[in-house]
Amino acid sequence: MDKFFYFNIKIYYTRSDGVYISKKLINVNERKVFMEEKKKTLTGLQPTGVIHLGNYIGAIKQMVEYQDKYDSYIFVADLHSITVPQDKDTLSKKCRDLIALYLACGIDPNKNTIFIQSENLYHANLAWMLECNTYFGELSRMHQFKEKSKKNENFTVGLLTYPVLMAADILLYDTDYVPVGIDQKQHVEIARDIAIRFNNKFGQTFTVPEPIIKESGTKITDLVDPTKKMSKSSDNPKGVITLLDDLDVARKKIMGATTDSETVVRFDPENKPGISNLINIYVSLTGKTIKETEEEFEGCNYGTFKTKVADVVVELLKNIQEKYNQIVSSSELDKILDEGRNKTTEIAKAKFEKVKEKMGFKRN
Ligand code: TYM
Repeated sequence: MDKFFYFNIKIYYTRSDGVYISKKLINVNERKVFMEEKKKTLTGLQPTGVIHLGNYIGAIKQMVEYQDKYDSYIFVADLHSITVPQDKDTLSKKCRDLIALYLACGIDPNKNTIFIQSENLYHANLAWMLECNTYFGELSRMHQFKEKSKKNENFTVGLLTYPVLMAADILLYDTDYVPVGIDQKQHVEIARDIAIRFNNKFGQTFTVPEPIIKESGTKITDLVDPTKKMSKSSDNPKGVITLLDDLDVARKKIMGATTDSETVVRFDPENKPGISNLINIYVSLTGKTIKETEEEFEGCNYGTFKTKVADVVVELLKNIQEKYNQIVSSSELDKILDEGRNKTTEIAKAKFEKVKEKMGFKRN
């Protein structure tokens, strides 16, 4: 009988700065190669208004948690922001401030690829290819489109096609997971539908992404009207905690949050939306479970509970603001953005060329 060696070889791929990207496992005996790619995660936030606690809990915090585990991409969705008019003189500052905020929240530039969407031309280019494989009917059924188009009859076509641009953002990088709040779930689902349709029609091209939505951070609601989502466009600033709020103001907002007359700290979003929202915030920021939180505050009045929630929120804001003030004017930001633009342009170009070829755009 032939003698043979039986062993596996692992090859680790790292970036030039040492960050782990993927692992290749080779079984020499069976002459098999298994790729164990590190899964990819990607998310983006619009540079409109100051980022609030809902954005932090729904998207940024998740990215910080996953940055060691996944090959992570986080960007400023500035092309998305122009579905409604933006002030051209302040747009670029808002983008830069958002990048500084990402870093201040703990997004590590050595573990994430950080970039500005408009600096990579392939996002808008791929969006066009995908638009021609997406139906008007499915876009007009999107909840966010229906809601926003109701507010203003004279809305732009961009408001309708926006989910296709979002699909392009996700599909360009073969993203596996998209951490978002519940309001974006439908948009990730349409990105999945578009990917599956394209793959079926033209052959395997895109990874089909999945949303990651944390149970407790799914939807942080407005502190004044807890039946509504906490939103940058809220009419009442008392309902929204922004990451750059003055610490005393933030505390007052929590202490003044709408509750109910029952005086029991119990999670019941339907009957106790205000208290349930504060429990969600507490749970998301402390890592405790809902049950542990209910037990911790058993027999306590709402004042005591709110004070504890405010302590946790203020501590978070204090840390973020200290780092933000150090970073916001640093030239380090340009270096990070240049690297992000160069790396993502290279990846996106390769994917876009593949799409073009699959669709028949080539010279004879
Ligand atoms: P945007 O800027 O509206 O919101 C950014 C992120 O914050 C989440 N979020 C919330 N989470 C919990 N509670 C809330 N009250 C709350 N409000 C907002 C959103 O779900 C989102 O995750 N279209 C996106 C930006 C985008 C994007 C992408 C995201 C563009 N391309 C590709 C992921 C992947 C948007 O407008 O997010």
